[in-house]
Amino acid sequence: MSVIQDQYGRTFRTLRVSLLNHCNLGCVYCVAGDSEVKAANTMHSSLPVPELLAIIRRLHEQLGLSTIRLTGGEPLLFQGLTELISGVREMGISSIKLTTNGFLLERLAMPMKQAGMRSINVSLDAVDEDVFYQMSRRHAVDRVIRGIDKALEAGLEVKINSVVMRGINEGQIIPLLEFAFSRHCRIRLLEVMAMGHLHDQAGRYLFSQEEMLAVIAGRYSFKPLGRAGSATASYWQTDDGHQFGVIANETAPFCGDCDRLRLDSSGHIYGCLSSNHPILLDKEEDEGIWTKKLQQALLQKQTLRFTGSDLSMLHIGG
Ligand code: 5AD
Repeated sequence: MSVIQDQYGRTFRTLRVSLLNHCNLGCVYCVAGDSEVKAANTMHSSLPVPELLAIIRRLHEQLGLSTIRLTGGEPLLFQGLTELISGVREMGISSIKLTTNGFLLERLAMPMKQAGMRSINVSLDAVDEDVFYQMSRRHAVDRVIRGIDKALEAGLEVKINSVVMRGINEGQIIPLLEFAFSRHCRIRLLEVMAMGHLHDQAGRYLFSQEEMLAVIAGRYSFKPLGRAGSATASYWQTDDGHQFGVIANETAPFCGDCDRLRLDSSGHIYGCLSSNHPILLDKEEDEGIWTKKLQQALLQKQTLRFTGSDLSMLHIGG
């Protein structure tokens, strides 16, 4: 194993794999307008399972990965998902996680659990049907909630991710917290990031951590718990024992201890969400070349803060 580390002591321990770059929702932070939804929902090709597993295995051998997170696009649309999960598990990477919009979760929660999945993040930006539609352009809130319940029943750890956008769903902060608390799930509220079509205008929609905490303070008393090393969320605990987190990528960035490497669905790596410079991993190349490419990817990491990107989560996942 070669040492791949930058001057801030950062290395790659977590691999996020975008399995495909299409989705079955059309969320406003990923997809610009109603006319773009079709393109976002259209299937693109992605690497087949054996090739993905071969890349992940080599990266694991070089980096000693501790966690793999499967993302998309929407990863539950990926054919061969359970096969991929079992393959990763066989490599000895015990922490296998996934981020999903929950649309297909009711059907796939149990098979995923059986294949070795531990923990999933479900994106849920509203519990009110109309606001859910405004955020995602689909009427699917009941379906996603059924998926969450099924996942809990299957024994998966479930965390809820809610992106808060000014003027659209900030009124859902308390209902979302109440929903998560009722299911004993951890919930994290996300500040909107300047990605994809929002690159130059995320500020318009930014609802800051400070503003979120002010809203929550109107309903609950809470105390800070802080942020664990290399985690994205800071947590708070309410007086009645419920925890919630905020991922304040814009107003309280956490780049300093980031340990994430990203792999997209056509075999490119990225060291940072801010980077629009994909680096293609070629399976014919030897370990020395892969090491150089990983070092190059590590240099993409920002030192202080996320600086925005034309890439959308539709391409690179969370
Ligand atoms: N800003 C913040 N969060 C985003 N997500 C997707 N795009 C953005 C953005 N521009 C969220 C999704 C999901 C996670 C992968 O990232 O809702 O929870």
